[in-house]
Amino acid sequence: MCGIVGYIGYKQAQPILLKSLKRLEYRGYDSCGIATIKNGELHLFKDKGRIVELEKKLPQLDGKTGIGHTRWATHGEPSPINAHPHLDCHRRIAVVHNGIIENYLDLKRRLIEEGHLFLSETDTEVIPHLIEKYYRRGLPEAVSQAVNHLSGSFAIAVLGTVSRELIVARKENPIVVGLGDKENFVASDIPALLDYTDRVIYLEDDDIAFITSEEVKITHRGQPAIRNWQVIPWRLEEAKKAGYEHFMLKEIHEQPQAIRQTLATYVPETGTITGLDIPRDDTEPNILCLGCGSSFYASLVYGYIFDKLGYQNIKSQIASEFIHSSGVKDGTWVIGITQSGETADTLKALKKAKEQGAKTIAITNVIGSTVTRLADHILYIRAGPEISVAATKSFAAQLIIGYLIALTVASVDSYTRDKVLTELRTVAIRVKQILDEADCLNPIATLLTKYSDLFLIARGINYPVVLEGALKFKEIAYIHADAYPAGELKHGPFALLRENTPVVAIATPDETYQSLLTSIKEIKARSSPVIAIAEEGDKNIEQIADEVLFTPRVEPLVSPLTNITILQLLAYYAAKERGCAIDFPVNLAKSVTVP
Ligand code: F6R
Repeated sequence: MCGIVGYIGYKQAQPILLKSLKRLEYRGYDSCGIATIKNGELHLFKDKGRIVELEKKLPQLDGKTGIGHTRWATHGEPSPINAHPHLDCHRRIAVVHNGIIENYLDLKRRLIEEGHLFLSETDTEVIPHLIEKYYRRGLPEAVSQAVNHLSGSFAIAVLGTVSRELIVARKENPIVVGLGDKENFVASDIPALLDYTDRVIYLEDDDIAFITSEEVKITHRGQPAIRNWQVIPWRLEEAKKAGYEHFMLKEIHEQPQAIRQTLATYVPETGTITGLDIPRDDTEPNILCLGCGSSFYASLVYGYIFDKLGYQNIKSQIASEFIHSSGVKDGTWVIGITQSGETADTLKALKKAKEQGAKTIAITNVIGSTVTRLADHILYIRAGPEISVAATKSFAAQLIIGYLIALTVASVDSYTRDKVLTELRTVAIRVKQILDEADCLNPIATLLTKYSDLFLIARGINYPVVLEGALKFKEIAYIHADAYPAGELKHGPFALLRENTPVVAIATPDETYQSLLTSIKEIKARSSPVIAIAEEGDKNIEQIADEVLFTPRVEPLVSPLTNITILQLLAYYAAKERGCAIDFPVNLAKSVTVP
């Protein structure tokens, strides 16, 4: 949700800002801009559209200090005026912002009364004017005073014509400082820094960092603070497309690796599960999983995994719904699942649970992300950077953690535990097999693009998998897709089934298989085309479905990992056939940092 970058050093800032912004485009891409300072003069260029378009029009903005922004609009439509950076009345202060200033209307009214001139509809524009208002003894003091008047959430980077320093501040929105040699960097997220440094400082809420090319000084609520730097474990190559047409395809293909790496982090080659950071000494805790979007669907799969391993004390809730509920009992384990570690709804929900006495556990992909500073226990998935807006490999890696927690919490015998762990190791190979033959899915994906509505069905553990599959079709291929537990069709959705409403049915073998076949027959009786996903060698299904996509044999418990791979690929190829901007779907951003 908006990407911020900053540079201060001995090189021209413009190329660095542009390159870094491109790596943050997954956070928003409706407008963008940069500002640099040279010889006490501010140079600004901003426009509607993506960075590549800005780059074509951008004049050379000289200066070795600069800030940049790629926007996901919240206040005011995407337009050159609403694009960041925003300036004060005298073009001496430039600000980029990620988040929402809740009291901006009030501040704006007062600033206008005091004579400040506003140009945009954004909430952000109050910030440079507030800084201007408090400007007496220099930028650091003015920024420190101004942020005290802001309510809401923000990460900001500020540039002034007088002082040669970058100032950044954060409250409930991510921002990291990258450390270089006689140069320093600022970014909303790590991928923007990978070209330049692997040493970063994660700022805490209410921190302000004063950055020159030589040093980074930090204050926390006005007092000097020490924040140690950390080494980023990701490599630059991981944040590049590596020959794939889209990040999404690359990331689907990285799924076996994400599964293996996550597994290897907690399960040594021959051993049992170790190092899982979960509360100890609780027998049969109540567990509540919270998340949004794909992470929520992963949590629904957890429910089935736990159930199958004999543990029923687990529920899932959408994080934004939990916020409005009465909450949890003291001592409940609340697991927040969030790839980015920055999703505002999930953070808010976890905070509430923590205040109610819950033991909070975060499952995330991003080291140092906000959730890691909020939760009591942290479990990292090892998926590597996920750039495409649509979650893929992170979903698979989240499931792996679910299996490991379930195996630890449920009283399974060692035979069952070893068997499941072996299945998890094998499933990475099966996913790879599917990926090696991914092109076979192309004709079916093309067929699906002929329709404007799509249904997906499954039963049991694969029901959340069709929910996740439907989300992929909606978000990247813009095909309206609805997912149901197969048994629910007859309670309403059947009314919509016609010859022009195809149904994708997961029919891999488990205890639900026969009922699923019955559902398919019922659908066929209503003339809808059925595309079944079935285990290789299944002869029955060929007789009733119109098309069958075969998957390698795996244990039913781990079948979500193979089945989701097929659905991801189908959605990807359908989106490609439709010419969609796969990595940057309309109206979406990867990191949803506004509640
Ligand atoms: C869907 C997707 C989103 C995210 C959701 C939560 O493909 O990517 O639905 O899953 O915004 O994001 P995280 O996991 O970062 O909290």
